[in-house]
Order: sequence, then structure tokens, then C-alpha cells
Amino acid sequence: MKVILTLHLSLITLHLIFFYFFLKRHFIFLNSFNICYKPTAETTRVESKLISKQLHHPPKSLELRLESPIICDRTSIRYDLCSINGPTVLDPTTSTFFTMNSTETPLVERIRPYPRKFEDLIMADIKNFTLTVGPRIPMCRVQHNAPALVFTAGGYTGNFWHDFNDGFIPLFITANTIFPDQDFVIVVSEAPKWWPSKYADLLRMFTNHPIVNLGSDTTTHCFPSAKLGLISHGFMIINQTLIPNSKTYMNFRELLGKAYNQLAQIQTKIFTSKPTNPRPRLVLASRRQATGRTIMNQAQVIRLIKKVGFDVVVFEPKTKTSLQESYALLNSSHAFVGVHGAALTHSLFLRPGAVFVQVVPIGIGWAAEAFFGRVAKGLNLEYIEYKIGVEESSLVDKFGKDSLLVRDPFALQKRGWPPEVMNTYLKEQNVKLDLVRFKRYLKKAFKKAKRFMDNEGY
Ligand SMILES: *[C@@H]1O[C@H](CO)[C@@H](O)[C@H](O)[C@H]1NC(C)=O
Ligand SMILES: *[C@@H]1O[C@H](CO)[C@@H](O)[C@H](O)[C@H]1NC(C)=O
Ligand SMILES: *[C@@H]1O[C@H](CO)[C@@H](O)[C@H](O)[C@H]1NC(C)=O
Ligand SMILES: *[C@@H]1O[C@H](CO)[C@@H](O)[C@H](O)[C@H]1NC(C)=O
Repeated sequence: MKVILTLHLSLITLHLIFFYFFLKRHFIFLNSFNICYKPTAETTRVESKLISKQLHHPPKSLELRLESPIICDRTSIRYDLCSINGPTVLDPTTSTFFTMNSTETPLVERIRPYPRKFEDLIMADIKNFTLTVGPRIPMCRVQHNAPALVFTAGGYTGNFWHDFNDGFIPLFITANTIFPDQDFVIVVSEAPKWWPSKYADLLRMFTNHPIVNLGSDTTTHCFPSAKLGLISHGFMIINQTLIPNSKTYMNFRELLGKAYNQLAQIQTKIFTSKPTNPRPRLVLASRRQATGRTIMNQAQVIRLIKKVGFDVVVFEPKTKTSLQESYALLNSSHAFVGVHGAALTHSLFLRPGAVFVQVVPIGIGWAAEAFFGRVAKGLNLEYIEYKIGVEESSLVDKFGKDSLLVRDPFALQKRGWPPEVMNTYLKEQNVKLDLVRFKRYLKKAFKKAKRFMDNEGY
């Protein structure tokens, strides 16, 4: 009897294990929200195929350069890339690039130059560019002597993480892949009013040519050639093996450093007090104005951070926050702590060796790694994940600690994770940090931060 029971139990266990792996293989990554907590099991498989294909065959756009004036490479699941291989005139009023060729039957291509092709919902908002070859082209008003690189700053622009994930990181990859000489003109469409000035210092690092902002432009521009679209390697990924000159996260950070250097040096002096017994500085990303993922006991947490030995700066960036100031703050700090959210993108501004603690609410584990964890490692940060326990989540008060939603987010993801459920995790969930458990992490962070500060000299 006992033997049979044991056998039964182990069979059940085996079944459970199989079931777990089945779920893991098929559903774990199903997820969705505006930061695209979306398709990934599927995506990854397709991606790895594509990537190996790209490695062995250069993109068609490069291969076929001589054959046709317009080539669009649509093989990636993340982006399209079109090339106009010859003189072209852009009419901003119709978002059309014209190329002259009387001998050919008219050719028309369309492209939305935003690297989130896998997400229909947002792509529907992105403006199409039309590329045509025909016998007639409009008159050229502004002549540029460098090729155009065209992309959109629409879509999710305005969310700081998206600004980098869908904008500057793909721009960095594309520029290094196609224009390593930096001789190109950035042509941007759908940029919000604040965008060109907020990112002026950064944009200058990519090219010396002034950018063409199509927002309110009605003049025609002509270029010796043009590329439309941005290459993306995946969420926040700069994949060294896919860039001709092996650029890495460190090179990206170097570019940020150059962009914000002057002011940073001045600010560093202000931020860096030199008392006889200096304390490492910890920047706490606060989400008090945000929907969801706030630290409910923030005041106590701040007291705890101080008690452990840090100086604390509470940081709550807005769209209008000056990047030079944020850069200077993070670049001169020793630790950065916050709950998973766009503000953690500022971890890009930390010096290599600084400590970065991501607080991960329930149900957000995958995104935590893909959006911030991987980058942190690439930047050689001392990265620590604090995964909250069930009792630290506000979802317990709402749904009870025995609810499936709290106990087993994967079980819900398996059902496709509709937006309501996603929003529950992202927008309805706040955290109340367990001060005893969190203190252990802070102490570890303090040791590393102190060592870092001593090594760096401040
Ligand atoms: C980078 O590209 C290589 C080669 O295609 C691939 O094997 C690897 O998984 C990629 N890395 C990431 C983080 O995507
Ligand atoms: C027109 O296209 C053909 C083939 O696509 C090419 O050989 C020719 O050079 C083009 N002419 C012009 C004026 O671009
Ligand atoms: C953009 O072009 C694509 C492909 O031709 C088309 O499917 C889509 O409906 C167009 N979108 C808009 C907003 O015009
Ligand atoms: C950031 O910190 C480094 C190291 O302390 C310093 O040399 C640099 O001037 C600071 N600013 C920038 C933009 O790198």
C-alpha cells in the first residue's frame, strides 16, 4: 500500500514537472502591455533563425544595392529597412520620397520606420512613408549632401524606456551598421515638440549634420540617397556579434558620456561633497506620481537606507527633466534603487561598477530581466534583483494571498494574459517592502557601493 502510494506521488510529481516545462515552453513569455510585455517564446525562435540568417547573408538591402533604386528588407520581425540607392526628393507634406527613373515601370513601397513591427496595435499609429520611382519628381528646395536616415519618434515616445528601446539604441545600432563614418542626416517624423530639444545633446553625437524634423516642415529636401527604418536587436539589446564594428553597451555608454560630459563635470563638483567621512550616495527612483508600482512605505524605506549608511537622493524624473542633470546625478552616485519602471532606464547613466537594485513586483520577472537586468550586466554594474514576496504586494489586499493572480502569475499568462490582467500587475500593484528582508539587500548594496566609492576616489 505504502509503495503504491509513493509510486503514485512520484508519478504525480513527474506529471507536474512535465506540465511546468510545457507551460514554460509555450506560455511563460505571453504577456502584454504598452512596454510590450509581449510575445516572446514565439519571437525568440523566429529571431534566432533570422539572426543566423543575417549572419550568413548580409541584409538584402546591401546585397542588391546595384540592382534597383528601391530595396526593402522585410525579413526581420522587429523592423523593416528600406534603401533608396540614388538621388531622391522628400516631400514632407505627403511623406513621400521620389526617385527619378524613366525607364522603369513605376515602383511603390511603404514603410513605417519604427522597430516594433511585431506589435500591430502601436504600428497602426505610425505614419507610413511612401517610396516611389517614376518619371516625375518634385523640385528640390533644400539640398543635403549626405544620405538621410529616416525614423519616427512617434509610437511610445515619451516613456523614457521606450525612447531608448525603440529610439536611441536602435539608432546607435543602425548608425554603426550603415553609417560608421557618421556622415548622414537624421530625418525624424512625428516627434513631439519637446523631443528635439530634450535629446539635442545626444542626437549631436550621432552626426554633425543638423536634424530634419518633419513635424511642421513643408519644404522639399533632397538627398544623395536614403535609408528608412531602424535596426533593432531585441529589447534593449546591443548585440556585439551583429554589428560590423563590434559595438557594445559600453560603447553606447561612452556616447552618453560624451553627450553629457561638460555639464556633468560642473555638476559633479556640486554633488560631490568631500567631508572627511564620505557616505556613498544612493539614488532612489520614486514613482509617487505614477500609476502603480509605488513604494507604499517609502518614508520608512528612506530612513532605512540612511541607517544602513547611504546618503539618499529621491529622484522622480519627468519628461521635462534635463538629461544633463539626471546624467550628472547618476554618474556621480554609487547606487540606484527603484521598482521596475521606465525611470530605471537611467541606470544607463551609472558608472560601471556602481550598484543597481531593481525591485521586481509579482508577475514582472521576465520583463525585469529583459528590460533592465541584461543591460545592467552589459554595463558592468553590480546588479541586484529584489523580487518581492507575496506579502509585500498590494495585490494581496485586493485579491487575497491564495488567489491565482497572486500565487501563480504564469497560470494567467498561459491564458494569454489579456490587458486587464496585465494592467493589474503593472498599474494596480504597489509594493510595501519588508524592511527586515530589504535591509539585508541594502547592506550588501552598501558594501559594494562603499568599495566602489573608495576605488573610484569618490
Ligand atoms: C546575439 O547574436 C548571436 C548571434 O546571432 C546570438 O547567438 C545571441 O543569442 C544574441 N544575443 C542576444 C542577447 O540576443
Ligand atoms: C533606372 O533603373 C535602371 C534599372 O533599374 C538602372 O539601370 C538605371 O540606371 C536607372 N536610371 C536612373 C536615371 O536612375
Ligand atoms: C501603411 O501602409 C501599409 C502597407 O501598405 C498599410 O497596410 C497600412 O494600412 C498603412 N497605414 C496607414 C496608417 O496608412
Ligand atoms: C562621470 O564620472 C566620471 C568618473 O568619475 C568622470 O570622469 C566624468 O567626467 C563624469 N562625467 C561624464 C560625462 O562621464
